[in-house]
Amino acid sequence: MSQLIVALDVPEPEQAEALVDQLYELDVIFKIGLEAHCGYPERMFSYLQARDVRYFVDVKLHDIPRTVGAAIRQLVRPGAHIINVHALGGLDMMRAAVESADARAGELGISRPHIFAVTILTSLAHEDLGELGLSGGVGENATRLAALARDAGCSGVVCSAHEVADLKNFFGEDFLTLTPGIRPRQAGHSDQKRVVTPAQAVAVGADYLVVGRPITQAPDPLHAARAILAEMSPALA
Ligand code: C5P
Repeated sequence: MSQLIVALDVPEPEQAEALVDQLYELDVIFKIGLEAHCGYPERMFSYLQARDVRYFVDVKLHDIPRTVGAAIRQLVRPGAHIINVHALGGLDMMRAAVESADARAGELGISRPHIFAVTILTSLAHEDLGELGLSGGVGENATRLAALARDAGCSGVVCSAHEVADLKNFFGEDFLTLTPGIRPRQAGHSDQKRVVTPAQAVAVGADYLVVGRPITQAPDPLHAARAILAEMSPALA
């Protein structure tokens, strides 16, 4: 069943905490992105941990294997459900992330967070890949990097909902997909270009749907989140 992740992309910790309080009663996962992680990480981790909610640390790690392994070690905590890295960091780096998550979770006696890999950022287009020295299109590169992520033991990849069906075909249902770029039927597109609705993302088999501004900037975030959950499970609406 697809799950909703709410991106807490707000500048002040009080705003993030208020959102957690407002959405607490829903079974959603919260996402700590770079804004929160650079601004107020410890406060956020403590807040989420104290409320016993699951969260996704979206920091897209990309460094040498030892450094990434050490960073993952710091991030594995109760409640950390997903942590991500960049597939472009390579096979050894992704392996280090998975192994470090395993080892640290074992030490703490908690379940190991999923390690997800970002393949090609959805903000990059075909021309950008050429500039980076990557031949081939976005889909081709994303599939190749997803294969590497699977070989490294990652649970899945961050991708566009448009790529989910192909990835599930290639790597099987158990290889998980996490898709940003979701917009409810009524919402504007803001700066996300290739967007799909919650119902479409669920229909193609996305395992996790990331939604930020349509919830966090809504006049009533709880109402907005409920509407998205209803779109994800029409039978419950
Ligand atoms: O506000 P919005 O729903 O566009 O938020 C999307 C979230 O997903 C942001 O936190 C952004 O950092 C993240 N994201 C993305 N595209 C990716 C990877 C992550 O939009 N390819």
